[in-house]
Amino acid sequence: MSTEAANWAYSEDFLPEDRVLLTARDIADELGCIPVLPGAGQALQLLTQASGTRSAVEIGTGAGVSLVYLLRGMTQGGVVTTIDVEPEHHKAARKTLAAAGFTPERARMITGRALDVLPRLTDGGYDLVLIDARKVEYPQYLEQALRLVRIGGMIAIDNSLWHGRVPDPAQRDQETTAIRTTLKHIRENESLTTVLLPSGDGLLVAIRNA
Ligand SMILES: C[S@@+](CC[C@H](N)C(=O)[O-])C[C@H]1O[C@@H](n2cnc3c(N)ncnc32)[C@H](O)[C@@H]1O
Repeated sequence: MSTEAANWAYSEDFLPEDRVLLTARDIADELGCIPVLPGAGQALQLLTQASGTRSAVEIGTGAGVSLVYLLRGMTQGGVVTTIDVEPEHHKAARKTLAAAGFTPERARMITGRALDVLPRLTDGGYDLVLIDARKVEYPQYLEQALRLVRIGGMIAIDNSLWHGRVPDPAQRDQETTAIRTTLKHIRENESLTTVLLPSGDGLLVAIRNA
Protein backbone atom coordinates (compact mmCIF):
# COMPACT_ATOMS: atom_id res chain seq x y z
CA MET A 1 0.00 0.00 0.00
CA SER A 2 1.36 3.49 -0.82
CA THR A 3 1.93 5.99 2.00
CA GLU A 4 -0.98 8.08 0.66
CA ALA A 5 -3.34 5.09 0.65
CA ALA A 6 -2.23 4.11 4.17
CA ASN A 7 -2.79 7.68 5.42
CA TRP A 8 -6.25 7.75 3.85
CA ALA A 9 -7.22 4.36 5.35
CA TYR A 10 -5.92 5.41 8.78
CA SER A 11 -7.94 8.66 8.63
CA GLU A 12 -11.15 6.89 7.56
CA ASP A 13 -10.82 4.41 10.47
CA PHE A 14 -9.62 7.01 12.97
CA LEU A 15 -13.01 7.49 14.70
CA PRO A 16 -15.23 4.41 14.95
CA GLU A 17 -18.88 4.86 13.96
CA ASP A 18 -21.58 4.00 16.50
CA ARG A 19 -24.35 1.39 16.19
CA VAL A 20 -26.83 3.91 14.67
CA LEU A 21 -24.54 4.75 11.76
CA LEU A 22 -23.40 1.15 11.21
CA THR A 23 -27.04 -0.02 11.07
CA ALA A 24 -27.91 2.80 8.63
CA ARG A 25 -24.97 1.69 6.46
CA ASP A 26 -26.32 -1.89 6.41
CA ILE A 27 -29.77 -0.60 5.37
CA ALA A 28 -28.20 1.64 2.71
CA ASP A 29 -26.38 -1.39 1.38
CA GLU A 30 -29.67 -3.32 1.11
CA LEU A 31 -31.28 -0.36 -0.69
CA GLY A 32 -28.32 0.06 -3.01
CA CYS A 33 -27.47 3.66 -2.08
CA ILE A 34 -23.93 4.44 -1.03
CA PRO A 35 -23.59 6.72 2.03
CA VAL A 36 -20.87 9.27 2.69
CA LEU A 37 -17.74 7.55 4.02
CA PRO A 38 -16.82 8.16 7.68
CA GLY A 39 -14.16 10.80 6.95
CA ALA A 40 -16.61 12.89 4.91
CA GLY A 41 -19.39 12.43 7.48
CA GLN A 42 -17.12 13.51 10.32
CA ALA A 43 -15.95 16.53 8.32
CA LEU A 44 -19.60 17.51 7.76
CA GLN A 45 -20.38 17.18 11.46
CA LEU A 46 -17.37 19.31 12.35
CA LEU A 47 -18.22 21.96 9.74
CA THR A 48 -21.86 22.26 10.82
CA GLN A 49 -20.82 22.51 14.48
CA ALA A 50 -18.05 25.05 13.84
CA SER A 51 -20.31 27.23 11.70
CA GLY A 52 -23.41 27.01 13.92
CA THR A 53 -25.53 25.66 11.05
CA ARG A 54 -29.27 25.98 11.71
CA SER A 55 -30.75 25.26 8.30
CA ALA A 56 -29.40 22.90 5.67
CA VAL A 57 -30.48 21.35 2.40
CA GLU A 58 -29.38 17.82 1.60
CA ILE A 59 -29.69 16.61 -2.00
CA GLY A 60 -29.77 12.80 -1.71
CA THR A 61 -31.05 11.45 1.62
CA GLY A 62 -30.25 7.76 1.15
CA ALA A 63 -30.73 5.83 4.39
CA GLY A 64 -29.81 8.87 6.49
CA VAL A 65 -26.09 8.48 7.23
CA SER A 66 -25.08 12.01 6.19
CA LEU A 67 -28.33 13.32 7.72
CA VAL A 68 -27.27 12.04 11.15
CA TYR A 69 -23.79 13.52 10.78
CA LEU A 70 -25.26 16.90 9.79
CA LEU A 71 -27.78 16.96 12.64
CA ARG A 72 -25.19 15.88 15.21
CA GLY A 73 -23.16 18.97 14.36
CA MET A 74 -26.07 21.40 13.96
CA THR A 75 -27.45 23.65 16.68
CA GLN A 76 -30.41 22.40 18.74
CA GLY A 77 -33.57 22.91 16.75
CA GLY A 78 -31.71 23.08 13.45
CA VAL A 79 -33.54 21.56 10.50
CA VAL A 80 -32.32 19.71 7.40
CA THR A 81 -34.52 19.84 4.30
CA THR A 82 -33.60 16.57 2.64
CA ILE A 83 -34.60 15.52 -0.88
CA ASP A 84 -34.72 12.04 -2.38
CA VAL A 85 -36.56 10.58 -5.32
CA GLU A 86 -37.11 7.21 -3.58
CA PRO A 87 -39.89 7.04 -0.94
CA GLU A 88 -38.28 3.81 0.34
CA HIS A 89 -35.09 5.71 1.13
CA HIS A 90 -37.02 8.34 3.09
CA LYS A 91 -38.73 5.57 5.05
CA ALA A 92 -35.33 4.14 5.97
CA ALA A 93 -33.95 7.59 6.83
CA ARG A 94 -36.90 8.21 9.18
CA LYS A 95 -35.95 5.06 11.09
CA THR A 96 -32.31 6.14 11.22
CA LEU A 97 -33.33 9.56 12.49
CA ALA A 98 -35.43 8.03 15.28
CA ALA A 99 -32.67 5.56 16.21
CA ALA A 100 -30.28 8.51 16.51
CA GLY A 101 -32.69 10.18 18.95
CA PHE A 102 -33.82 13.05 16.73
CA THR A 103 -37.46 14.11 16.55
CA PRO A 104 -39.09 13.93 13.07
CA GLU A 105 -39.30 17.75 12.84
CA ARG A 106 -35.52 17.95 12.52
CA ALA A 107 -35.73 16.59 8.96
CA ARG A 108 -38.14 18.01 6.39
CA MET A 109 -38.19 15.16 3.90
CA ILE A 110 -39.30 16.06 0.38
CA THR A 111 -39.79 13.12 -1.95
CA GLY A 112 -39.22 14.01 -5.58
CA ARG A 113 -36.61 14.68 -8.21
CA ALA A 114 -34.08 17.18 -6.93
CA LEU A 115 -34.29 19.36 -10.03
CA ASP A 116 -38.07 19.68 -9.55
CA VAL A 117 -37.85 20.36 -5.81
CA LEU A 118 -34.86 22.69 -5.54
CA PRO A 119 -36.38 25.61 -7.51
CA ARG A 120 -39.20 25.73 -4.92
CA LEU A 121 -36.80 26.41 -2.03
CA THR A 122 -36.07 29.95 -0.81
CA ASP A 123 -33.18 32.04 -2.19
CA GLY A 124 -30.45 32.58 0.41
CA GLY A 125 -32.50 30.68 2.99
CA TYR A 126 -29.92 28.11 4.04
CA ASP A 127 -26.62 27.93 5.92
CA LEU A 128 -25.43 24.82 4.10
CA VAL A 129 -26.25 22.74 1.02
CA LEU A 130 -24.91 19.19 0.72
CA ILE A 131 -24.86 17.72 -2.80
CA ASP A 132 -24.96 13.90 -2.94
CA ALA A 133 -27.53 12.63 -5.47
CA ARG A 134 -27.31 12.00 -9.28
CA LYS A 135 -23.77 12.70 -10.39
CA VAL A 136 -24.71 13.81 -13.94
CA GLU A 137 -26.87 16.53 -12.40
CA TYR A 138 -24.13 17.98 -10.19
CA PRO A 139 -23.67 21.11 -12.38
CA GLN A 140 -27.40 21.94 -12.04
CA TYR A 141 -27.33 21.18 -8.31
CA LEU A 142 -24.43 23.62 -7.95
CA GLU A 143 -26.41 26.31 -9.77
CA GLN A 144 -29.28 25.80 -7.34
CA ALA A 145 -26.98 25.59 -4.30
CA LEU A 146 -25.37 28.95 -5.15
CA ARG A 147 -28.86 30.45 -5.13
CA LEU A 148 -30.03 28.72 -1.94
CA VAL A 149 -27.08 29.29 0.35
CA ARG A 150 -26.86 32.59 2.20
CA ILE A 151 -23.76 34.80 2.00
CA GLY A 152 -21.32 33.24 4.47
CA GLY A 153 -22.97 29.84 4.06
CA MET A 154 -21.39 26.65 2.77
CA ILE A 155 -21.76 24.24 -0.13
CA ALA A 156 -20.42 20.69 0.35
CA ILE A 157 -20.09 18.21 -2.52
CA ASP A 158 -19.60 14.51 -1.83
CA ASN A 159 -17.88 12.17 -4.32
CA SER A 160 -15.77 15.05 -5.61
CA LEU A 161 -12.97 12.58 -6.43
CA TRP A 162 -15.42 9.88 -7.67
CA HIS A 163 -13.30 6.83 -6.87
CA GLY A 164 -10.16 8.42 -8.28
CA ARG A 165 -11.77 9.07 -11.67
CA VAL A 166 -12.03 12.87 -11.43
CA PRO A 167 -8.24 13.45 -11.19
CA ASP A 168 -7.58 11.04 -14.07
CA PRO A 169 -7.95 12.91 -17.42
CA ALA A 170 -8.37 9.58 -19.27
CA GLN A 171 -11.76 9.09 -17.56
CA ARG A 172 -14.38 10.78 -19.75
CA ASP A 173 -17.66 9.07 -18.74
CA GLN A 174 -20.72 11.26 -18.13
CA GLU A 175 -20.66 11.12 -14.33
CA THR A 176 -16.95 11.89 -14.02
CA THR A 177 -17.22 14.71 -16.56
CA ALA A 178 -20.19 16.24 -14.74
CA ILE A 179 -18.35 16.23 -11.42
CA ARG A 180 -15.21 17.64 -13.06
CA THR A 181 -17.29 20.41 -14.68
CA THR A 182 -18.84 21.24 -11.29
CA LEU A 183 -15.42 21.50 -9.65
CA LYS A 184 -14.18 23.71 -12.51
CA HIS A 185 -17.10 26.12 -12.01
CA ILE A 186 -16.31 26.31 -8.32
CA ARG A 187 -12.59 26.81 -8.87
CA GLU A 188 -13.30 29.66 -11.30
CA ASN A 189 -15.87 31.35 -9.06
CA GLU A 190 -14.06 34.20 -7.34
CA SER A 191 -16.82 34.71 -4.80
CA LEU A 192 -16.12 31.33 -3.17
CA THR A 193 -13.48 30.24 -0.65
CA THR A 194 -12.88 26.59 -1.42
CA VAL A 195 -11.10 23.47 -0.20
CA LEU A 196 -11.15 19.98 -1.72
CA LEU A 197 -10.75 17.55 1.17
CA PRO A 198 -9.56 14.04 0.25
CA SER A 199 -11.76 12.66 3.07
CA GLY A 200 -14.09 9.83 2.09
CA ASP A 201 -14.58 9.90 -1.68
CA GLY A 202 -13.57 13.58 -1.79
CA LEU A 203 -15.55 16.32 -0.07
CA LEU A 204 -15.39 19.73 -1.67
CA VAL A 205 -16.37 22.57 0.66
CA ALA A 206 -16.94 26.15 -0.50
CA ILE A 207 -18.04 29.25 1.40
CA ARG A 208 -20.12 31.83 -0.47
CA ASN A 209 -18.56 35.26 0.13
CA ALA A 210 -20.82 37.40 -2.05
C1 LIG B 1 -25.34 8.54 -2.64
S1 LIG B 1 -27.01 8.34 -2.12
C2 LIG B 1 -27.16 9.50 -0.79
C3 LIG B 1 -26.47 9.07 0.45
C4 LIG B 1 -26.71 9.94 1.64
N1 LIG B 1 -26.33 11.32 1.40
C5 LIG B 1 -25.95 9.39 2.84
O1 LIG B 1 -24.78 9.72 3.01
O2 LIG B 1 -26.52 8.59 3.56
C6 LIG B 1 -27.85 9.16 -3.41
C7 LIG B 1 -29.34 9.29 -3.21
O3 LIG B 1 -29.82 10.17 -4.21
C8 LIG B 1 -31.09 9.72 -4.60
N2 LIG B 1 -31.35 10.24 -5.96
C9 LIG B 1 -30.93 9.77 -7.14
N3 LIG B 1 -31.36 10.54 -8.15
C10 LIG B 1 -32.08 11.54 -7.58
C11 LIG B 1 -32.76 12.66 -8.10
N4 LIG B 1 -32.80 12.92 -9.40
N5 LIG B 1 -33.39 13.48 -7.21
C12 LIG B 1 -33.33 13.23 -5.88
N6 LIG B 1 -32.70 12.19 -5.34
C13 LIG B 1 -32.06 11.34 -6.18
C14 LIG B 1 -31.02 8.20 -4.54
O4 LIG B 1 -32.32 7.66 -4.40
C15 LIG B 1 -30.12 7.99 -3.34
O5 LIG B 1 -30.85 7.76 -2.16
